Amino acid sequence: MFIPDISNRTGPKFIALADALTEAIESNELAINTKLPPQRILSYRLGVTVGTVTRAYQELERRGLIEPKVGSGTYVKDRQSEQQTFYHPVTSQEGIDLAICRPLLLSQQQHLSTILQDLSHEPTAQKAVLDYYSAEGLHGHNRTLQHWLNDRLNVDIDNRRLIWTYGGQHSLAIILQSLSRPKDTILVEGLCYAEFINACQQAERKLVPVQLDEAGIVPEDLELHCKRHKPRLLYLTPAIQNPTGTQINDSRRLKIIEICRRYNVLIIEDDVLYCPPSHRKTPLVAIAPDITIYVGSFSKYFAGGLRVGYLIMPLTLKDTLQRTLRANCMHISPLMIDLVCRWLTNGAMEAVDKEIALELSARHRLFNQYFPSQNNAVIPGFNCWIPLPEPLTGYSFSKLLRNKGIHVREAEMFAVGRYPVPAAIRISLTGPSSRSQLKTGLVIIKEQISLVMPNSYRIA
Ligand SMILES: Cc1ncc(COP(=O)(O)O)c(C=O)c1O
Repeated sequence: MFIPDISNRTGPKFIALADALTEAIESNELAINTKLPPQRILSYRLGVTVGTVTRAYQELERRGLIEPKVGSGTYVKDRQSEQQTFYHPVTSQEGIDLAICRPLLLSQQQHLSTILQDLSHEPTAQKAVLDYYSAEGLHGHNRTLQHWLNDRLNVDIDNRRLIWTYGGQHSLAIILQSLSRPKDTILVEGLCYAEFINACQQAERKLVPVQLDEAGIVPEDLELHCKRHKPRLLYLTPAIQNPTGTQINDSRRLKIIEICRRYNVLIIEDDVLYCPPSHRKTPLVAIAPDITIYVGSFSKYFAGGLRVGYLIMPLTLKDTLQRTLRANCMHISPLMIDLVCRWLTNGAMEAVDKEIALELSARHRLFNQYFPSQNNAVIPGFNCWIPLPEPLTGYSFSKLLRNKGIHVREAEMFAVGRYPVPAAIRISLTGPSSRSQLKTGLVIIKEQISLVMPNSYRIA
């Protein structure tokens, strides 16, 4: 039986006893699920009253270290399994998840722990992040974002053109609410980020698909739709298309901008998806700041759970967008913005970016062994687009894979209106937490395709 030594401890006896037992639990001298001595025996052995032991045990329970079990005694708690249950998603799917597009968790946890410790020593910051503000937020946060963006995008952005948001999806909702009305036409890529389609459907906006080829939207088709529908907004993912992964080249970017200017169309430039450093281009917002609203987010570059993003907009739209933000949520949580700003200034954001790029390129090497790419305009981001041989459809194939425990997204999810749906699936290389899980998923997908068409993909 474990009897702690409290002879050299000062202060109230019950605290001395609780501290001694805490140390024994933390050092694993008292292991998980060990039964603590009965209170009477411990009081007798230590020469203290039973009341002192009772208070010590109550203190340990308050510290979350022990738990009484009715009729059986008091035990050291299994805090890890308790945490695992507590922090388990309410809904989660079994198997290999190649559907969710998220950044891998590499050193982010360590960065979180570091800045929470920093914050715990800064009373001015603590007070500030607990308060209410105007939609513009805090001076230092705004300047930090401005400096970071100026460096990253190599432009000089007036900080009045920035608004923090709760991530890319929130930004898109704010834009839709501010700059369009029900039944308005919005031009989009024929295959489009599915949650933008959802947001427009919810808000009763009419989506018109613009034709895509292997290098992004086709300018001639864009012009045709501008003439026909006179839209106010065009939604685009020029850096890395969701779902196909293509990037719009420089000459096509200029053509798109020229057409939008001529027809008075505002461009929503969604740059949320992770684009590896080697493939980053000057964004449209730097070339045409007067007609572009840029949607940025830290969801894919650091962690999706942050729910922090930002908008860069023409100054003329600031009041409208900010009013919508206020109507929506007053302002973004200063605590979350503060965490992001600390990572922007202490180098963590940059370090994680490099780590993601490194792991991603290893995962692409793996992917290319099974599915060698044929399109040079495709960027090696999180998502990969896999065309399927006849008679497969994205829908039927993703169902088949689901029955084998592999989760992917079918092309049908991304098709806008009557836009012709290609037979294809989208997989995310960063969905699985390990490369070996990814490999298993790729092998199964390849096997299943080969059953329909042997040699449809050569193994490099
Ligand atoms: C193209 C695109 N835009 C926006 C979002 C939403 O980003 P956030 O998680 O920052 O809301 C996503 C998420 O997958 C996306 O793929």
